[in-house]
Amino acid sequence: MSEQQQQFDVVVIGAGPGGYIAAIRAAQLGFKVACIDEWKNDKGGPAPGGTCTNVGCIPSKALLQSSEHFEQAGHHFADHGIGIEGLSLDLPKLLGRKDGVVKQNNEGILYLFKKNKVSFFHGRGSFAAAADGGYQIKVAGASEQTLSGKHIVVSTGSNARALPNAPFDEETILSNDGALRIGEVPQRLALIGAGVIGLEMGSVWRRLGADVTILEGLPEFLGAVDQQIAKEAHKAFLKQGLKIELGVKIGDIAKGEAGVTIAYTDAKGESRTLEADKLIVSIGRVPNTIGLNGEAVGLQLDERGAIVVDADCKTNLPNVWAVGDVVRGPMLAHKAEEEGVAVAERIAGQHGHVNFATIPWVIYTNPEISWVGQTEQQLKASGRAYKAGTFPFLANGRARALGDTTGMVKFLADATTDEILGVHIVGPQASELIAEAVVAMEFKASAEDIARICHAHPSLSEAVKEAALAVDKRTLNF
Ligand code: FAD
Ligand code: NAI
Repeated sequence: MSEQQQQFDVVVIGAGPGGYIAAIRAAQLGFKVACIDEWKNDKGGPAPGGTCTNVGCIPSKALLQSSEHFEQAGHHFADHGIGIEGLSLDLPKLLGRKDGVVKQNNEGILYLFKKNKVSFFHGRGSFAAAADGGYQIKVAGASEQTLSGKHIVVSTGSNARALPNAPFDEETILSNDGALRIGEVPQRLALIGAGVIGLEMGSVWRRLGADVTILEGLPEFLGAVDQQIAKEAHKAFLKQGLKIELGVKIGDIAKGEAGVTIAYTDAKGESRTLEADKLIVSIGRVPNTIGLNGEAVGLQLDERGAIVVDADCKTNLPNVWAVGDVVRGPMLAHKAEEEGVAVAERIAGQHGHVNFATIPWVIYTNPEISWVGQTEQQLKASGRAYKAGTFPFLANGRARALGDTTGMVKFLADATTDEILGVHIVGPQASELIAEAVVAMEFKASAEDIARICHAHPSLSEAVKEAALAVDKRTLNF
């Protein structure tokens, strides 16, 4: 081993939510930890936080917030008796604010590394060799050197999936990256894929003034979501002016001087074309192991390119772990974080645990959509006997005061034991309300447990309590 090689107990490759959280937890547990990340900010400096911080969760939520303010000021403040004359949009400022929020988060992670004594290396990490009961990891880039680590945690994330006939140029054909920094509101914006990104980014640009059309391959809207909730959301999005075409088959995509032309077959089998100034392709993401050089040590990947792991995030190699988007399971920041914590604890000989049955999902549109546990269609398919209870926000005093009464809360509980099996929300603050359901399910609560808990009045959370009461057909306010 060369003299310059620094030795670590744990080397984490990738500082997204999976990696940076694994590094911090491992340091808390007393290990000597290195974390390597290659993301660069606009000045070429380090920008830890991964997809989530740089081109995912954080900037998309900043844009959703700003665009929702614009929508409210333009279309809904008048309902409150507030008139605004000469409402205008300063898009560079709006995008600049989003960049500022991202920067604060990048800097926050660098601060947390310092605070927890995690050594950060800016550059690309790759496996060089297995050696001395551990691994040599080469860092290429600003912090060029070779590290040695007893345990390696791979958290290299994912990349946007492109259509084979439409590579991303981030000018006309955009991934999530380009979709977050369009310099001028496009007149006509097309999106392919009405999933989470399609709906969130479609909402942002529609609110800012674009004519938005989303083309979706599947015949059902949000097929993985409880269909009663999905139908309610679909209605609300169409009313807002989002055009969503289901059951399409995408054909040729041609770039021209004025934008892009998308040929497709619609649900009835008819050939159609859509002209747009910009196209966002949001058809899912692929695990990222580019440049990791896992071949040097025999790291096993599956047919999707994901690193193969067991339930404990162990790879096929001793002391090599993998977490987050680069492995199986939902591609969510909080799932990556939970796996990062669990792996650090397993390295320390503890019993880290991730409960896949209680991972919440949120789509940050307006209305927001959130859920945890099983959908009604899943329960039907599995033959489980269940009871359902719903409560509309229309009957909730706080929602009326807010002027935001779209949607409902829905509980699904076991027909015999009353154990909560799933909670589904479409409506105001669904992202926050779902936390109560997650806690309840972690503690194996019954619907009656929630129904008997005192909820503040007036609050949106009363709709959660009332939906739990509805399971037993005894709502008080509906
Ligand atoms: P990543 O965040 O992708 O981080 C991987 C890091 O590893 C990157 O910094 C990358 O540069 C680095 N890296 C890769 N290879 C190497 C290497 N060889 N050497 C050094 N560094 C390397 N999830 C939610 O839960 N909520 C949301 O609201 C949400 N919104 C999203 C919005 C958008 C537009 C997108 C695209 C995603 C969103 N997600 C959201 C998903 C979320 O971003 C991911 O699930 C999450 O970032 C995965 O974390 P990760 O640590 O596995 O990987
Ligand atoms: P997605 O899986 O959510 O949606 C992709 C959509 O594209 C699906 O509806 C699919 O049927 C459709 N599709 C796939 N191929 C197609 C084709 N050839 N033609 C037409 N339609 C096609 O993926 P998305 O939106 O790209 O997001 C990726 C992931 O990022 C999400 O699954 C989620 O894990 C994460 N994410 C999470 C967010 C959140 O938690 N709020 C926000 C944004 C992303």
